[in-house]
Amino acid sequence: METETGRLSLETVASLCKRRGFIFQSSEIYGGINGFWDYGPLGVELKRNIKDAWWSDIVRRREDVVGLDASIIMHRRVWEASGHVEGFTDPMVDCRSCKRRYRADQLLAELGVELETGSKAEKDLVLPPGAKCPACGAGELTPPRPFNLMFETHPGAVQSEENKTYLRPETAQGIFAQFNNVLAVSRRKVPFGIAQIGKAFRNEINPRNYTFRSREFEQMELEFFIKPGTGAQWHEYWVNERLKWYGSIGLPEESLSRYVYGKDELAHYASACVDVMYAFPFGVQELEGIAARGDYDLRRHQEYSGKSMDYFDQETNAKYVPHVVEPSAGVDRIALALICNAYREEWVPNGEGEAREAEPGRPAPEGYETRTVMRFHPRVAPVKVAVFPLLKNKPELVNKARGVFESLQPRWNCFWDQVGAIGRRYRRQDEIGTPFAVTVDFQSLEDNTATLRERDSMRQQRVRIEELRGRLEEAIG
Ligand code: GAP
Repeated sequence: METETGRLSLETVASLCKRRGFIFQSSEIYGGINGFWDYGPLGVELKRNIKDAWWSDIVRRREDVVGLDASIIMHRRVWEASGHVEGFTDPMVDCRSCKRRYRADQLLAELGVELETGSKAEKDLVLPPGAKCPACGAGELTPPRPFNLMFETHPGAVQSEENKTYLRPETAQGIFAQFNNVLAVSRRKVPFGIAQIGKAFRNEINPRNYTFRSREFEQMELEFFIKPGTGAQWHEYWVNERLKWYGSIGLPEESLSRYVYGKDELAHYASACVDVMYAFPFGVQELEGIAARGDYDLRRHQEYSGKSMDYFDQETNAKYVPHVVEPSAGVDRIALALICNAYREEWVPNGEGEAREAEPGRPAPEGYETRTVMRFHPRVAPVKVAVFPLLKNKPELVNKARGVFESLQPRWNCFWDQVGAIGRRYRRQDEIGTPFAVTVDFQSLEDNTATLRERDSMRQQRVRIEELRGRLEEAIG
Protein backbone atom coordinates (compact mmCIF):
# COMPACT_ATOMS: atom_id res chain seq x y z
CA MET A 1 0.00 0.00 0.00
CA GLU A 2 1.25 3.44 -0.85
CA THR A 3 2.22 6.04 1.70
CA GLU A 4 0.80 9.43 1.00
CA THR A 5 1.06 13.09 1.80
CA GLY A 6 -1.33 15.46 3.53
CA ARG A 7 -3.23 15.20 6.77
CA LEU A 8 -3.82 11.47 6.45
CA SER A 9 -1.98 8.48 5.06
CA LEU A 10 -3.69 5.55 3.41
CA GLU A 11 -2.05 3.23 5.96
CA THR A 12 -3.81 5.13 8.76
CA VAL A 13 -7.12 4.82 6.92
CA ALA A 14 -6.67 1.09 6.23
CA SER A 15 -5.65 0.25 9.76
CA LEU A 16 -8.54 2.26 11.19
CA CYS A 17 -10.97 0.58 8.78
CA LYS A 18 -9.82 -2.84 9.92
CA ARG A 19 -9.78 -2.05 13.65
CA ARG A 20 -13.22 -0.50 13.64
CA GLY A 21 -14.83 -3.05 11.34
CA PHE A 22 -15.32 -0.99 8.19
CA ILE A 23 -13.23 -2.98 5.71
CA PHE A 24 -11.34 -6.29 5.84
CA GLN A 25 -9.15 -7.94 3.27
CA SER A 26 -11.14 -10.62 1.46
CA SER A 27 -10.10 -14.21 2.37
CA GLU A 28 -7.65 -12.77 4.90
CA ILE A 29 -7.19 -16.10 6.75
CA TYR A 30 -5.72 -17.52 3.51
CA GLY A 31 -3.42 -14.57 2.91
CA GLY A 32 -5.95 -12.37 1.08
CA ILE A 33 -6.72 -11.99 -2.60
CA ASN A 34 -5.56 -8.91 -4.42
CA GLY A 35 -8.29 -6.47 -5.43
CA PHE A 36 -11.11 -7.92 -3.32
CA TRP A 37 -12.48 -6.52 -0.05
CA ASP A 38 -15.10 -7.39 2.55
CA TYR A 39 -17.13 -4.77 4.38
CA GLY A 40 -17.53 -5.36 8.13
CA PRO A 41 -20.43 -4.36 10.40
CA LEU A 42 -19.82 -0.60 10.10
CA GLY A 43 -18.69 -0.66 6.47
CA VAL A 44 -21.82 -2.43 5.32
CA GLU A 45 -23.99 0.19 7.06
CA LEU A 46 -21.97 3.01 5.49
CA LYS A 47 -22.33 1.51 2.01
CA ARG A 48 -26.03 0.85 2.51
CA ASN A 49 -26.54 4.48 3.56
CA ILE A 50 -24.71 5.73 0.45
CA LYS A 51 -26.84 3.53 -1.78
CA ASP A 52 -30.06 4.49 0.03
CA ALA A 53 -29.22 8.20 -0.29
CA TRP A 54 -28.54 7.78 -4.01
CA TRP A 55 -31.64 5.65 -4.64
CA SER A 56 -33.82 8.06 -2.69
CA ASP A 57 -32.55 11.15 -4.54
CA ILE A 58 -32.17 9.65 -8.01
CA VAL A 59 -35.16 7.29 -8.17
CA ARG A 60 -37.77 7.73 -5.41
CA ARG A 61 -37.87 11.50 -5.25
CA ARG A 62 -37.98 11.94 -9.01
CA GLU A 63 -40.92 11.18 -11.25
CA ASP A 64 -38.73 10.88 -14.33
CA VAL A 65 -36.54 7.96 -13.15
CA VAL A 66 -37.39 4.30 -12.52
CA GLY A 67 -35.24 1.47 -11.16
CA LEU A 68 -33.95 -1.84 -12.47
CA ASP A 69 -32.06 -4.81 -11.04
CA ALA A 70 -30.54 -6.71 -13.96
CA SER A 71 -28.52 -9.92 -13.76
CA ILE A 72 -24.74 -9.82 -13.38
CA ILE A 73 -24.19 -12.44 -16.05
CA MET A 74 -25.77 -11.62 -19.38
CA HIS A 75 -25.69 -13.00 -22.91
CA ARG A 76 -22.28 -12.71 -24.52
CA ARG A 77 -23.81 -10.68 -27.37
CA VAL A 78 -24.51 -7.87 -24.90
CA TRP A 79 -20.75 -7.40 -24.51
CA GLU A 80 -20.07 -7.74 -28.21
CA ALA A 81 -22.69 -5.09 -28.95
CA SER A 82 -21.45 -2.74 -26.25
CA GLY A 83 -17.90 -2.92 -27.60
CA HIS A 84 -16.46 -4.41 -24.39
CA VAL A 85 -15.26 -7.66 -26.02
CA GLU A 86 -13.26 -5.73 -28.55
CA GLY A 87 -12.25 -2.64 -26.69
CA PHE A 88 -12.59 -2.84 -22.89
CA THR A 89 -8.86 -2.93 -22.40
CA ASP A 90 -6.13 -1.24 -20.46
CA PRO A 91 -2.66 -0.86 -21.93
CA MET A 92 -0.39 -3.37 -20.18
CA VAL A 93 3.40 -3.39 -19.99
CA ASP A 94 5.54 -6.37 -18.91
CA CYS A 95 9.07 -6.46 -17.58
CA ARG A 96 10.93 -9.03 -19.72
CA SER A 97 13.24 -9.80 -16.83
CA CYS A 98 11.27 -9.97 -13.52
CA LYS A 99 7.88 -10.49 -15.27
CA ARG A 100 6.23 -7.73 -13.26
CA ARG A 101 3.10 -6.45 -14.97
CA TYR A 102 2.11 -2.76 -15.11
CA ARG A 103 -0.75 -0.65 -16.34
CA ALA A 104 0.97 1.74 -18.73
CA ASP A 105 -0.35 4.98 -17.20
CA GLN A 106 0.61 3.85 -13.68
CA LEU A 107 4.05 2.83 -14.91
CA LEU A 108 4.57 6.24 -16.51
CA ALA A 109 3.63 7.86 -13.20
CA GLU A 110 6.15 5.61 -11.41
CA LEU A 111 8.79 6.59 -13.94
CA GLY A 112 8.01 10.24 -13.24
CA VAL A 113 6.68 10.94 -16.75
CA GLU A 114 3.98 13.60 -16.53
CA LEU A 115 1.16 13.15 -19.00
CA GLU A 116 0.17 16.39 -20.64
CA THR A 117 -2.59 17.99 -18.51
CA GLY A 118 -3.08 14.56 -16.88
CA SER A 119 -4.39 13.26 -20.23
CA LYS A 120 -6.55 10.14 -20.22
CA ALA A 121 -5.96 9.51 -23.94
CA GLU A 122 -4.29 6.14 -24.67
CA LYS A 123 -2.27 7.57 -27.53
CA ASP A 124 -0.29 9.59 -24.96
CA LEU A 125 0.86 6.46 -23.13
CA VAL A 126 4.27 6.11 -24.72
CA LEU A 127 7.23 4.86 -22.69
CA PRO A 128 10.33 7.03 -22.73
CA PRO A 129 13.15 5.48 -24.81
CA GLY A 130 15.34 3.08 -22.77
CA ALA A 131 12.94 3.05 -19.78
CA LYS A 132 13.69 0.21 -17.32
CA CYS A 133 11.45 -1.70 -14.93
CA PRO A 134 11.23 0.27 -11.65
CA ALA A 135 10.73 -2.97 -9.66
CA CYS A 136 13.94 -4.82 -10.64
CA GLY A 137 15.76 -1.74 -11.88
CA ALA A 138 17.25 -3.40 -14.96
CA GLY A 139 14.52 -5.21 -16.91
CA GLU A 140 13.60 -4.20 -20.42
CA LEU A 141 9.94 -3.24 -20.80
CA THR A 142 7.55 -4.40 -23.54
CA PRO A 143 5.63 -1.72 -25.45
CA PRO A 144 2.08 -1.18 -24.08
CA ARG A 145 -0.45 -3.70 -25.44
CA PRO A 146 -4.17 -4.13 -24.75
CA PHE A 147 -5.37 -6.37 -21.92
CA ASN A 148 -9.12 -7.08 -21.70
CA LEU A 149 -10.44 -6.44 -18.20
CA MET A 150 -13.51 -8.67 -18.31
CA PHE A 151 -13.66 -11.84 -16.19
CA GLU A 152 -14.74 -14.79 -18.32
CA THR A 153 -17.24 -17.38 -17.15
CA HIS A 154 -19.09 -20.36 -18.65
CA PRO A 155 -22.69 -20.84 -17.50
CA GLY A 156 -23.73 -24.52 -17.58
CA ALA A 157 -21.88 -27.79 -17.36
CA VAL A 158 -19.77 -27.43 -20.49
CA GLN A 159 -16.82 -25.07 -20.70
CA SER A 160 -16.69 -24.19 -24.36
CA GLU A 161 -16.05 -21.13 -26.46
CA GLU A 162 -19.77 -21.09 -27.44
CA ASN A 163 -21.09 -20.69 -23.91
CA LYS A 164 -18.44 -18.23 -22.81
CA THR A 165 -19.66 -14.95 -21.37
CA TYR A 166 -18.45 -12.41 -18.82
CA LEU A 167 -19.16 -11.01 -15.37
CA ARG A 168 -20.50 -7.53 -16.12
CA PRO A 169 -17.81 -4.85 -16.01
CA GLU A 170 -20.50 -2.15 -15.62
CA THR A 171 -24.20 -2.21 -14.72
CA ALA A 172 -25.13 0.13 -17.58
CA GLN A 173 -25.53 -2.50 -20.29
CA GLY A 174 -28.28 -4.28 -18.34
CA ILE A 175 -30.23 -1.03 -18.58
CA PHE A 176 -29.74 -0.64 -22.34
CA ALA A 177 -30.62 -4.29 -22.95
CA GLN A 178 -33.92 -3.84 -21.04
CA PHE A 179 -34.74 -0.42 -22.48
CA ASN A 180 -37.81 -1.59 -24.44
CA ASN A 181 -39.31 -3.60 -21.57
CA VAL A 182 -38.89 -0.81 -19.04
CA LEU A 183 -40.26 1.78 -21.44
CA ALA A 184 -43.30 -0.38 -22.14
CA VAL A 185 -44.20 -0.95 -18.48
CA SER A 186 -43.23 2.34 -16.86
CA ARG A 187 -45.34 4.66 -19.06
CA ARG A 188 -42.55 7.24 -19.01
CA LYS A 189 -41.85 9.69 -21.78
CA VAL A 190 -38.45 10.93 -22.91
CA PRO A 191 -36.72 12.57 -21.09
CA PHE A 192 -36.65 9.82 -18.46
CA GLY A 193 -34.06 7.66 -16.76
CA ILE A 194 -33.44 4.08 -15.66
CA ALA A 195 -31.24 3.63 -12.60
CA GLN A 196 -29.46 0.62 -11.21
CA ILE A 197 -27.16 -0.25 -8.31
CA GLY A 198 -25.10 -3.41 -8.39
CA LYS A 199 -21.82 -5.25 -8.51
CA ALA A 200 -19.39 -4.89 -11.37
CA PHE A 201 -16.17 -6.81 -11.99
CA ARG A 202 -12.95 -5.78 -13.70
CA ASN A 203 -9.78 -7.79 -13.79
CA GLU A 204 -7.67 -4.71 -13.07
CA ILE A 205 -4.02 -5.23 -14.00
CA ASN A 206 -2.85 -3.57 -10.84
CA PRO A 207 -5.48 -3.02 -8.13
CA ARG A 208 -4.19 -0.24 -5.89
CA ASN A 209 -4.87 2.49 -3.41
CA TYR A 210 -6.79 0.22 -1.06
CA THR A 211 -10.41 -0.15 -2.25
CA PHE A 212 -10.10 2.65 -4.79
CA ARG A 213 -9.27 0.33 -7.69
CA SER A 214 -10.70 -3.10 -6.94
CA ARG A 215 -11.57 -6.11 -9.06
CA GLU A 216 -15.06 -6.39 -7.60
CA PHE A 217 -16.94 -3.20 -6.76
CA GLU A 218 -20.38 -1.63 -6.79
CA GLN A 219 -21.71 0.96 -9.19
CA MET A 220 -24.69 3.31 -9.05
CA GLU A 221 -25.57 4.18 -12.63
CA LEU A 222 -28.26 6.27 -14.23
CA GLU A 223 -29.00 6.16 -17.94
CA PHE A 224 -31.01 9.29 -18.64
CA PHE A 225 -32.66 9.05 -22.08
CA ILE A 226 -33.18 12.30 -23.92
CA LYS A 227 -34.23 13.75 -27.26
CA PRO A 228 -31.41 14.05 -29.81
CA GLY A 229 -29.95 17.55 -29.76
CA THR A 230 -30.54 18.13 -26.02
CA GLY A 231 -27.36 16.39 -24.80
CA ALA A 232 -25.43 19.52 -23.85
CA GLN A 233 -28.14 20.96 -21.54
CA TRP A 234 -28.87 17.63 -19.89
CA HIS A 235 -25.19 16.92 -19.40
CA GLU A 236 -24.67 20.24 -17.66
CA TYR A 237 -27.81 19.63 -15.56
CA TRP A 238 -26.56 16.24 -14.35
CA VAL A 239 -23.03 17.45 -13.59
CA ASN A 240 -24.52 20.15 -11.33
CA GLU A 241 -27.02 17.77 -9.72
CA ARG A 242 -24.35 15.22 -8.95
CA LEU A 243 -21.97 17.77 -7.47
CA LYS A 244 -24.77 19.03 -5.19
CA TRP A 245 -25.51 15.45 -4.15
CA TYR A 246 -21.96 14.93 -2.88
CA GLY A 247 -22.50 17.97 -0.65
CA SER A 248 -25.68 16.36 0.71
CA ILE A 249 -23.71 13.37 2.02
CA GLY A 250 -21.07 15.55 3.63
CA LEU A 251 -18.21 15.95 1.16
CA PRO A 252 -17.11 19.59 1.36
CA GLU A 253 -17.11 21.64 -1.84
CA GLU A 254 -13.38 22.34 -1.55
CA SER A 255 -12.56 18.60 -1.61
CA LEU A 256 -14.40 18.13 -4.93
CA SER A 257 -13.45 19.20 -8.42
CA ARG A 258 -14.34 18.48 -12.05
CA TYR A 259 -12.13 16.94 -14.68
CA VAL A 260 -13.44 18.04 -18.07
CA TYR A 261 -12.36 15.69 -20.88
CA GLY A 262 -10.66 17.26 -23.85
CA LYS A 263 -12.02 16.41 -27.31
CA ASP A 264 -9.15 13.96 -27.97
CA GLU A 265 -9.80 12.10 -24.69
CA LEU A 266 -13.47 11.39 -25.40
CA ALA A 267 -14.74 8.07 -26.75
CA HIS A 268 -15.61 8.52 -30.45
CA TYR A 269 -19.39 8.47 -29.76
CA ALA A 270 -19.35 10.79 -26.71
CA SER A 271 -19.86 14.55 -26.98
CA ALA A 272 -18.89 15.42 -23.38
CA CYS A 273 -17.57 13.83 -20.23
CA VAL A 274 -16.87 15.29 -16.80
CA ASP A 275 -15.42 13.32 -13.91
CA VAL A 276 -16.30 14.32 -10.35
CA MET A 277 -12.96 14.22 -8.52
CA TYR A 278 -12.20 13.97 -4.82
CA ALA A 279 -8.95 14.95 -3.08
CA PHE A 280 -7.96 11.54 -1.64
CA PRO A 281 -4.81 11.21 0.51
CA PHE A 282 -3.15 9.64 -2.56
CA GLY A 283 -4.14 12.45 -4.92
CA VAL A 284 -7.13 13.92 -6.70
CA GLN A 285 -9.03 10.99 -8.23
CA GLU A 286 -12.34 10.11 -9.88
CA LEU A 287 -15.48 9.33 -7.89
CA GLU A 288 -17.94 9.44 -10.76
CA GLY A 289 -18.02 9.97 -14.51
CA ILE A 290 -20.84 11.85 -16.23
CA ALA A 291 -20.88 11.26 -19.98
CA ALA A 292 -23.07 12.36 -22.86
CA ARG A 293 -22.96 9.15 -24.91
CA GLY A 294 -25.27 10.03 -27.82
CA ASP A 295 -27.29 7.08 -29.12
CA TYR A 296 -24.29 4.74 -29.35
CA ASP A 297 -25.43 2.08 -26.87
CA LEU A 298 -29.05 1.71 -27.97
CA ARG A 299 -28.05 1.78 -31.62
CA ARG A 300 -25.45 -0.95 -31.11
CA HIS A 301 -28.00 -3.16 -29.31
CA GLN A 302 -30.49 -2.48 -32.09
CA GLU A 303 -27.91 -3.59 -34.62
CA TYR A 304 -26.76 -6.71 -32.75
CA SER A 305 -30.18 -7.90 -31.51
CA GLY A 306 -32.22 -6.91 -34.55
CA LYS A 307 -34.79 -5.34 -32.17
CA SER A 308 -35.83 -1.76 -32.79
CA MET A 309 -34.85 0.73 -30.08
CA ASP A 310 -36.95 3.49 -31.61
CA TYR A 311 -38.94 5.76 -29.37
CA PHE A 312 -42.13 7.28 -30.74
CA ASP A 313 -42.53 10.88 -29.66
CA GLN A 314 -46.30 11.50 -29.51
CA GLU A 315 -45.93 15.26 -29.34
CA THR A 316 -44.01 15.58 -32.60
CA ASN A 317 -45.07 12.29 -34.24
CA ALA A 318 -41.37 11.60 -34.77
CA LYS A 319 -39.45 8.38 -34.19
CA TYR A 320 -35.90 8.36 -32.93
CA VAL A 321 -33.36 6.34 -30.98
CA PRO A 322 -32.97 8.30 -27.71
CA HIS A 323 -29.63 9.75 -26.74
CA VAL A 324 -28.33 9.22 -23.22
CA VAL A 325 -26.55 11.10 -20.45
CA GLU A 326 -24.93 8.72 -17.98
CA PRO A 327 -23.89 9.65 -14.41
CA SER A 328 -21.95 6.60 -13.21
CA ALA A 329 -20.63 6.47 -9.64
CA GLY A 330 -18.68 3.92 -7.59
CA VAL A 331 -20.05 3.07 -4.13
CA ASP A 332 -16.68 1.84 -2.83
CA ARG A 333 -14.88 5.00 -3.90
CA ILE A 334 -17.54 7.17 -2.27
CA ALA A 335 -17.27 5.09 0.94
CA LEU A 336 -13.49 5.57 0.93
CA ALA A 337 -13.85 9.32 0.31
CA LEU A 338 -16.35 9.61 3.17
CA ILE A 339 -14.04 7.71 5.53
CA CYS A 340 -11.02 9.87 4.58
CA ASN A 341 -13.09 13.04 4.92
CA ALA A 342 -14.58 12.06 8.29
CA TYR A 343 -11.36 11.08 10.08
CA ARG A 344 -10.05 13.64 12.58
CA GLU A 345 -7.70 13.67 15.51
CA GLU A 346 -8.62 16.46 17.90
CA TRP A 347 -7.47 17.94 21.18
CA VAL A 348 -10.42 18.39 23.46
CA PRO A 349 -10.34 20.37 26.72
CA ASN A 350 -10.92 18.42 29.91
CA GLY A 351 -13.47 21.02 31.01
CA GLU A 352 -15.57 23.42 28.93
CA GLY A 353 -14.37 24.66 25.55
CA GLU A 354 -13.99 23.87 21.90
CA ALA A 355 -12.05 20.99 20.38
CA ARG A 356 -9.22 21.85 18.01
CA GLU A 357 -7.41 19.84 15.39
CA ALA A 358 -4.50 17.87 16.87
CA GLU A 359 -1.00 18.61 15.60
CA PRO A 360 0.35 15.40 14.06
CA GLY A 361 2.88 13.52 16.19
CA ARG A 362 2.50 15.84 19.21
CA PRO A 363 0.88 14.88 22.51
CA ALA A 364 -2.14 16.87 23.68
CA PRO A 365 -1.18 20.03 25.64
CA GLU A 366 -1.90 20.22 29.33
CA GLY A 367 -5.61 20.32 30.15
CA TYR A 368 -6.48 18.59 26.88
CA GLU A 369 -6.83 15.02 25.72
CA THR A 370 -6.71 13.59 22.20
CA ARG A 371 -9.87 12.19 20.70
CA THR A 372 -10.27 10.40 17.40
CA VAL A 373 -13.54 11.20 15.76
CA MET A 374 -15.22 10.27 12.49
CA ARG A 375 -17.27 13.29 11.47
CA PHE A 376 -19.69 11.47 9.17
CA HIS A 377 -22.69 13.40 7.90
CA PRO A 378 -25.74 12.03 9.80
CA ARG A 379 -27.17 10.84 6.45
CA VAL A 380 -24.38 8.31 5.98
CA ALA A 381 -23.19 7.66 9.56
CA PRO A 382 -23.27 3.86 10.14
CA VAL A 383 -24.83 4.27 13.60
CA LYS A 384 -27.11 7.27 14.07
CA VAL A 385 -27.84 7.22 17.82
CA ALA A 386 -26.24 5.54 20.84
CA VAL A 387 -28.29 5.06 24.01
CA PHE A 388 -26.74 4.62 27.45
CA PRO A 389 -27.99 4.14 31.00
CA LEU A 390 -25.69 6.14 33.28
CA LEU A 391 -25.01 3.05 35.41
CA LYS A 392 -25.48 -0.56 34.45
CA ASN A 393 -26.20 -1.84 37.95
CA LYS A 394 -29.28 0.35 38.49
CA PRO A 395 -32.22 -1.56 36.96
CA GLU A 396 -34.48 1.52 36.97
CA LEU A 397 -31.95 3.40 34.78
CA VAL A 398 -31.35 0.40 32.52
CA ASN A 399 -35.10 -0.18 32.03
CA LYS A 400 -35.81 3.42 31.19
CA ALA A 401 -32.84 3.66 28.82
CA ARG A 402 -33.89 0.38 27.20
CA GLY A 403 -37.32 1.91 26.56
CA VAL A 404 -35.68 4.88 24.81
CA PHE A 405 -33.46 2.54 22.77
CA GLU A 406 -36.40 0.40 21.68
CA SER A 407 -38.42 3.45 20.67
CA LEU A 408 -35.64 4.76 18.39
CA GLN A 409 -34.34 1.46 17.00
CA PRO A 410 -37.16 0.83 14.48
CA ARG A 411 -36.34 4.17 12.83
CA TRP A 412 -32.52 4.28 12.88
CA ASN A 413 -29.54 2.04 13.36
CA CYS A 414 -28.97 2.53 17.11
CA PHE A 415 -26.29 1.27 19.48
CA TRP A 416 -26.80 0.11 23.05
CA ASP A 417 -23.86 0.42 25.45
CA GLN A 418 -23.92 0.11 29.23
CA VAL A 419 -20.27 -0.76 29.82
CA GLY A 420 -17.64 1.60 31.26
CA ALA A 421 -17.51 5.23 32.31
CA ILE A 422 -19.83 7.51 30.38
CA GLY A 423 -16.91 9.55 28.95
CA ARG A 424 -15.37 6.35 27.54
CA ARG A 425 -18.68 5.40 25.98
CA TYR A 426 -18.93 8.81 24.26
CA ARG A 427 -15.38 8.38 22.94
CA ARG A 428 -16.17 4.93 21.54
CA GLN A 429 -19.09 6.43 19.62
CA ASP A 430 -16.94 9.36 18.41
CA GLU A 431 -14.51 6.82 17.02
CA ILE A 432 -17.15 5.18 14.85
CA GLY A 433 -18.81 8.47 13.91
CA THR A 434 -22.15 8.22 15.73
CA PRO A 435 -23.59 11.75 15.54
CA PHE A 436 -25.83 11.57 18.64
CA ALA A 437 -25.81 9.87 22.04
CA VAL A 438 -28.61 9.80 24.61
CA THR A 439 -27.90 9.18 28.29
CA VAL A 440 -30.54 8.27 30.82
CA ASP A 441 -29.59 9.31 34.38
CA PHE A 442 -31.23 9.81 37.78
CA GLN A 443 -32.84 13.09 36.73
CA SER A 444 -34.53 11.16 33.89
CA LEU A 445 -36.44 9.14 36.48
CA GLU A 446 -37.82 12.34 38.00
CA ASP A 447 -38.63 14.55 35.03
CA ASN A 448 -38.58 12.22 32.01
CA THR A 449 -35.69 14.05 30.32
CA ALA A 450 -32.43 12.65 28.99
CA THR A 451 -29.11 14.11 27.92
CA LEU A 452 -28.68 14.48 24.16
CA ARG A 453 -25.00 14.76 23.27
CA GLU A 454 -23.83 15.97 19.88
CA ARG A 455 -20.64 14.38 18.52
CA ASP A 456 -18.98 17.33 16.76
CA SER A 457 -19.60 20.13 19.26
CA MET A 458 -19.76 17.66 22.22
CA ARG A 459 -22.60 19.88 23.47
CA GLN A 460 -25.02 18.23 25.87
CA GLN A 461 -28.57 19.36 26.45
CA ARG A 462 -31.53 17.99 28.34
CA VAL A 463 -34.40 16.98 26.13
CA ARG A 464 -37.80 15.60 27.09
CA ILE A 465 -37.83 11.91 26.18
CA GLU A 466 -41.11 12.24 24.25
CA GLU A 467 -39.48 14.99 22.13
CA LEU A 468 -36.30 13.03 21.39
CA ARG A 469 -37.55 11.36 18.25
CA GLY A 470 -38.70 14.64 16.71
CA ARG A 471 -35.38 16.34 17.57
CA LEU A 472 -33.42 13.50 16.02
CA GLU A 473 -35.70 13.38 12.99
CA GLU A 474 -34.86 17.04 12.30
CA ALA A 475 -31.12 16.44 12.68
CA ILE A 476 -30.78 13.10 10.90
CA GLY A 477 -33.69 13.07 8.46
N1 GAP B 1 -20.84 2.86 -17.43
C1 GAP B 1 -19.76 3.76 -17.35
C2 GAP B 1 -18.68 3.30 -16.50
O1 GAP B 1 -18.66 2.16 -16.02
P1 GAP B 1 -16.40 4.03 -15.45
O2 GAP B 1 -15.80 5.41 -15.36
O3 GAP B 1 -15.58 2.96 -16.02
O4 GAP B 1 -17.74 4.24 -16.27
C3 GAP B 1 -17.82 4.41 -13.30
O5 GAP B 1 -16.90 3.61 -14.02
C4 GAP B 1 -17.42 4.48 -11.84
O6 GAP B 1 -17.27 3.17 -11.31
C5 GAP B 1 -16.08 5.16 -11.60
O7 GAP B 1 -16.22 6.57 -11.55
C6 GAP B 1 -15.70 4.58 -10.25
O8 GAP B 1 -16.33 5.28 -9.20
C7 GAP B 1 -16.26 3.18 -10.31
N2 GAP B 1 -15.17 2.24 -10.68
C8 GAP B 1 -14.72 1.95 -11.90
N3 GAP B 1 -13.72 1.05 -11.84
C9 GAP B 1 -13.53 0.77 -10.53
C10 GAP B 1 -12.65 -0.10 -9.81
N4 GAP B 1 -11.77 -0.88 -10.44
N5 GAP B 1 -12.74 -0.13 -8.46
C11 GAP B 1 -13.64 0.63 -7.81
N6 GAP B 1 -14.50 1.46 -8.45
C12 GAP B 1 -14.46 1.53 -9.78
